[in-house]
Amino acid sequence: MAARERADELICLSRDLAPEGPGHRFTVEQHGARWPAFVVRYRGGVYAYINRCAHQDLELDWVAGDFFDNARRYLICATHGALYEPDTGACVAGPCKGGRLLPLSTVEVAGEIRLRRSNGVRLARNEATQQ
Ligand code: FES
Repeated sequence: MAARERADELICLSRDLAPEGPGHRFTVEQHGARWPAFVVRYRGGVYAYINRCAHQDLELDWVAGDFFDNARRYLICATHGALYEPDTGACVAGPCKGGRLLPLSTVEVAGEIRLRRSNGVRLARNEATQQ
């Protein structure tokens, strides 16, 4: 248990993410820089990304947590409509077609969705909870 606590951090509970439903926003930090991020559930899997469009340095969601398009098939950038595959982060349509979202490593275990620390990426200090 102690080893797991050092290797990953709680983002949210599994029940907080409905399939193809609203995402959960959070903040990560890496080497002193902070980045908005989000996690969604799609076709049974959990996928997390830095919340920054590949087209411009803007967050995808105008309405906080609203990442899916109307068909619930793609993640959509609200600014210019870029569409991203939820499970790969690849942009398949829009001004940044061929680009991709920056993925974050997660694990879902025991009803929790947790961020795996890698390359110095961790939850921002004010979001890290006692685990
Ligand atoms: S900023 Fe996302 S498509 Fe232009």
